[in-house]
Amino acid sequence: MPFLRIGHQITKPISPYRKRSINTGSSWPLGCCCPDQTPPNKLEKLEDAAAMKRRLLLVDERGTKHLVREGDRLETDIGIFNLPRRASPGTVLRSHLGRTAFVLEPSIRDYVERMPRPTSIPYFEDIGFVLAFAGLRKGQTVVEAGTGSGACALYFSQAVGPAGKVHSFEIRADIHRIAVGNVQGFGCRNVELVCDDVRNKPRDLRADLFFLDLASPSRYVDLANGSMKPGGMICAFAPFVEEGARCVRKLKALGCFEVRMLEVPHRDYEVSSHGTRPKTTQTVHTGYLAFARALPLRQGRAD
Ligand SMILES: C[S@@+](CC[C@H](N)C(=O)[O-])C[C@H]1O[C@@H](n2cnc3c(N)ncnc32)[C@H](O)[C@@H]1O
Repeated sequence: MPFLRIGHQITKPISPYRKRSINTGSSWPLGCCCPDQTPPNKLEKLEDAAAMKRRLLLVDERGTKHLVREGDRLETDIGIFNLPRRASPGTVLRSHLGRTAFVLEPSIRDYVERMPRPTSIPYFEDIGFVLAFAGLRKGQTVVEAGTGSGACALYFSQAVGPAGKVHSFEIRADIHRIAVGNVQGFGCRNVELVCDDVRNKPRDLRADLFFLDLASPSRYVDLANGSMKPGGMICAFAPFVEEGARCVRKLKALGCFEVRMLEVPHRDYEVSSHGTRPKTTQTVHTGYLAFARALPLRQGRAD
């Protein structure tokens, strides 16, 4: 049984099904291991106690936001702010130049906007649509192919709550490491981050939502279809319409129901003293979402 090493102390075994994973569940110690940097069975500590310290949001008098930790020293263009060791939301701070900032609890969006993001992440309108359309709720299980920066994993984690579970797979060790820091930094306890090809996922892992957010998702819809709980939702995010359509064709051929493809447009508006109009420059396209629900008798092979 592999063991996770925290500091110099050998602690509890890590995930029962893979040694290259981090489980943020409360019964597991926080930590992480990456196959690229460590020989088998010799697992390195990546995150220390500082990483587990909760993040706070510092909003300065101009509305500029910073993610900070208690005890941090933050240098900004309006002076240096020293965070007290015990800072609670509502605390007002003054910089050494006499400028003001406020300590707040970061919302999940504040956090995602400011956490390290080595990959692109789906836009908020797409994430929100997926959550609503799948009807993700407390206690459910999500499998994500492509952890990336961990943005979706955070939202899924919040939606399924402590009784639910998010299993997210990332093939690249360098990206996995950053996602681990992001997920731990937000205090998620129900996320299993696995540094591996999603094709190696355990056969018996079944999802209420299988989210494909990686290049060429159509190559993985068979895997997703074979890994669903009855009636579970498969969702593929595709940046190009051709790939979205490929997903739809494959999902139909697999016998899924409620197969559809859509995009979620949104427009930002500028409200000024002269009038109100759409912002002149803004993102006009995010990606295509292909959805389908799995039927038990037509699921075929899981891997
Ligand atoms: C667009 S990013 C995912 C963003 C992520 N959903 C988020 O919310 O931050 C796609 C990721 O999929 C990973 N990836 C690509 N192929 C993979 C595979 N077969 N198994 C697991 N991860 C894979 C890539 O390394 C990349 O980090």
